[in-house]
Amino acid sequence: MPSVFLKTYGCQMNERDSEAVAAQLVAKGYSLAPSEAVADVVLLNTCSVRDNAEQKAVDKMTNLAGQFRKQRPGVLLGFLGCMAQSRGKELIDQLPDVDLVVGTQKFHRVADYVDDLLAGRRDKIVDTEEERGSEATIKEHLLNGAAKGKAVTAFVSIMQGCNQYCTFCIVPYTRGQERSRSIPDIVAECRELVARGVKEITLLGQIVTSYGRRNSESAKVGKCESEKDGGAGRLSLSHSPAFSPATSPFVQLIEAVHAIEGLERIRFTSPHPKGYGDDLVAAYARLPKLVESAHLPVQSGSDRILKLMHRGYTRSRFLEIIRQLRAVNPEMGITTDIIVGFPGETEVDFAETLALAHEVEFDNAFVFKYSPRRDTPAAAMPDQLPEEVIEARHSQLLAIINEIAERKNKVCEGRVLQILVEGPSRKNPARLEGRTRANKIVVFEGSERHIGQLMDVRIVRAAPFTLYGDPAIVNLN
Ligand code: SAH
Ligand code: F3S
Repeated sequence: MPSVFLKTYGCQMNERDSEAVAAQLVAKGYSLAPSEAVADVVLLNTCSVRDNAEQKAVDKMTNLAGQFRKQRPGVLLGFLGCMAQSRGKELIDQLPDVDLVVGTQKFHRVADYVDDLLAGRRDKIVDTEEERGSEATIKEHLLNGAAKGKAVTAFVSIMQGCNQYCTFCIVPYTRGQERSRSIPDIVAECRELVARGVKEITLLGQIVTSYGRRNSESAKVGKCESEKDGGAGRLSLSHSPAFSPATSPFVQLIEAVHAIEGLERIRFTSPHPKGYGDDLVAAYARLPKLVESAHLPVQSGSDRILKLMHRGYTRSRFLEIIRQLRAVNPEMGITTDIIVGFPGETEVDFAETLALAHEVEFDNAFVFKYSPRRDTPAAAMPDQLPEEVIEARHSQLLAIINEIAERKNKVCEGRVLQILVEGPSRKNPARLEGRTRANKIVVFEGSERHIGQLMDVRIVRAAPFTLYGDPAIVNLN
């Protein structure tokens, strides 16, 4: 059977989509190629969130096409995901060697399309249609696959799309309207993963705090009774009637996943400050498997900019959530996303973002240079900032974020922290790597049998992004 090389750009949702596509291809008998050089099919799963992410994938495909045209003209080339969705056929017009373009609601058709193209039944395929129920099609996992070794952690996609329409963001256009899977469907997938040895599950969606708030097709046909509770879009759970009326569908979902025996840790990404209710804060106190880690995108520290971004919260509301989370657990690891150089951002606005970074002391943050995206309101706003200004603010904020991150890591030196051992360290495969509950990476010398275990490690050294555990004082429980 032919082999496929799949390269992924962008976020964890893209990683998850690629994994499901790879699992479907493997189920059909394809093998996964270790590199593009030996593959019969090369698929790029793309990201559109910033221009440079799109550019990288286009450049890569241009190079591949040039190389293969001369040496191996039979190789099949395809674009998947967000850029495929937003550009569609235009990609083939630009790069005629591309055979396949598949959007974000059709990942589950990729394996069939590859079959059709390889068998010569079709010449080119572009599929960017919407599909009802597509949110429930990302479910196959590649556990224990050639590339992954023994899988200890897994991502589970709980919803697709976003209706928040932040003015800078292309996601609502590439991923579509919010659609949630039903709780029973998600729990069944999680159970299966745990049965196969997974210890930690990360629930994934573009805006998980909106989970289940809009009735989607699969929620209706699932065992949920979203209409019976007054039409609030709440998903009630037939097997677990004990929720108070204030419990949001997302917290109900966490609670249901929490009940799975053998599962040790739950994470989720990404929530939105606007939907961050008291019940979610309280869940951290109530549910021990929900680890003390929160990725909560703030985007800006200026109320004026937050409003222009259409974020739906203020700086003080964001700070209030952070206070609440730290009150529940002072060890809470808190990370964020920040955009610098949004149109019209003044020195005063930027100073408020810097002040917020100092005030919150994030454990880490992704700092992004604003990138105008097609179809988004912000791209048409006046006062787009010059590249040099954006560049300078980016470096200034990043330096502060890194300095704080390093200082917070240093605090861990000498402490004993619980880690879940995930496998060989990415930087040095002779060592092992795990994560603390607060989501910090710990590298230590251990042996294969530690993989998949929860263990206590004494932190002997802190580098800016990594902690090092002492093998001599490893305390195996
Ligand atoms: N809710 C999603 C957001 C996806 S985009 C999630 O958290 O996964 C991820 C991050 O990219 C956003 O939080 C934002 O900080 C950044 N981003 C989105 N659009 C951008 C743009 N036009 N320019 C720069 N950064 C952007
Ligand atoms: Fe994008 Fe805002 Fe949704 S950042 S994914 S539109 S919450």
